[in-house]
Amino acid sequence: MSNSIKLAILGLGTVGTGVINLINDNLDELKRRSGRDIIITEVGTRRQRDDIDSNIMQNSDLMAIAASDNVDIVIEVIGGTTLAKDLIMHAIKNGKHVVTANKALLAEHGNEIFAFAEAHNVHVAYEAAVAGGIPIIKVMREALAANKIDWLAGIINGTGNFIMTEMRDKGRPFADVLSEAQELGYAEADPTFDVEGIDAAHKLALLASIAFGIPLQFDKVYCEGITGITLQDVNYAEELGYRIKHLGFAVRRDGQGNADDAGVELRVHPTLIPQDALLANVNGVKNAVLVNSHPLGQTLYCGDGAGAGATASAVMADVMDLVRVLGSKDNDEQSNSVQNNHGHHVPHLAFIPEQLSDTPILRAEQMITGYYLRVHAYDSPGVLADITRILSDAGINIDAILQKPAHKVGQVPVIILTLPVVESQMNLAIEKIEKLDTITDKVVRIRLDELA
Ligand code: HSE
Repeated sequence: MSNSIKLAILGLGTVGTGVINLINDNLDELKRRSGRDIIITEVGTRRQRDDIDSNIMQNSDLMAIAASDNVDIVIEVIGGTTLAKDLIMHAIKNGKHVVTANKALLAEHGNEIFAFAEAHNVHVAYEAAVAGGIPIIKVMREALAANKIDWLAGIINGTGNFIMTEMRDKGRPFADVLSEAQELGYAEADPTFDVEGIDAAHKLALLASIAFGIPLQFDKVYCEGITGITLQDVNYAEELGYRIKHLGFAVRRDGQGNADDAGVELRVHPTLIPQDALLANVNGVKNAVLVNSHPLGQTLYCGDGAGAGATASAVMADVMDLVRVLGSKDNDEQSNSVQNNHGHHVPHLAFIPEQLSDTPILRAEQMITGYYLRVHAYDSPGVLADITRILSDAGINIDAILQKPAHKVGQVPVIILTLPVVESQMNLAIEKIEKLDTITDKVVRIRLDELA
């Protein structure tokens, strides 16, 4: 092997271009840290670009690049789940290590891809797939490896957080802020992935697997986006000392004595959290992940969650790890076996593959959260009593209540915050509230978490 590490970049969008810029900017630092020259030998792009160094081969045949003898590490940043999957599988088959930022692909096909990589003794590294530039994969797989993780909660979509922040702080309209997020290179190719919570669900599936040692199960993540959040609810929440953030949660539940309710909650949704919580003050494109583990306790990781520089930083951190793996190949052929030498390599999903557990993922009705309810009722005697009676009959503990003067003739909004309750119980109570003659609209509900 020559002293140089040869990279191929498949896709020259925001992230691919960011990686090229990072290597150009920090070339010396990369060499001082790794002891190797890191060079881009090939890039996969549909149309020729004149702003690319003439030493780099531009090729529209991406499959050929994935198998090229002139490449040690393939960086996949084209996105999507079809061609990207074929390319990664082809690269693995040809003995290439892979670095990818493709959370959708890994969340949906990661079990298969990681098994294939292990069978071929190569790595698929994916730091850039979750929370942009925050090194959360490395932290959870390595730095927290001695801990038992009980739960995590994270702001894991930069576009969504940017939109919510701009709406709250500046009262800007949703569509206007989304366009700006697209211009800044934060948003997915299909921005509904950002605003409907799908991108966050992809990332949560990855985080949950490395937190609990369970296979990837994106299809079981409960998913709500931010499109239904109104300024009215943002303001009521603030009045009561809370802030609405779009969060992903992965929580272990012991079932409180009922084995059928033991398992893992995987959910992404808007959530009221206390205004003074650190997560409540993570704004703009920043992401943050709060991890509660034993014996360490709570730790918080924060940084830019999207954009060229942040994502390129994570991609190149993976490349630097792989440079060391490639280096060790020179010294010790045996140590390159991922499958047979768990001790030398961090497993793809943090736990050795044979030890992944079949802990069930809980259904939405089994999940336990607090709630913010907004109920609109005719202004008549006993309305509040009727609503609170239904909640108390369902064993739901009210934590705060706010009744506003009539905002339309004869109608009052009533805001109620509850302590944690099983979702099926809340569903029944809301059904009963909506049947009251005095109720004018559907009940608006947003989950609430004290993050304690
Ligand atoms: N669209 C994603 C976000 C990019 O806004 O977080 C980073 O994964």
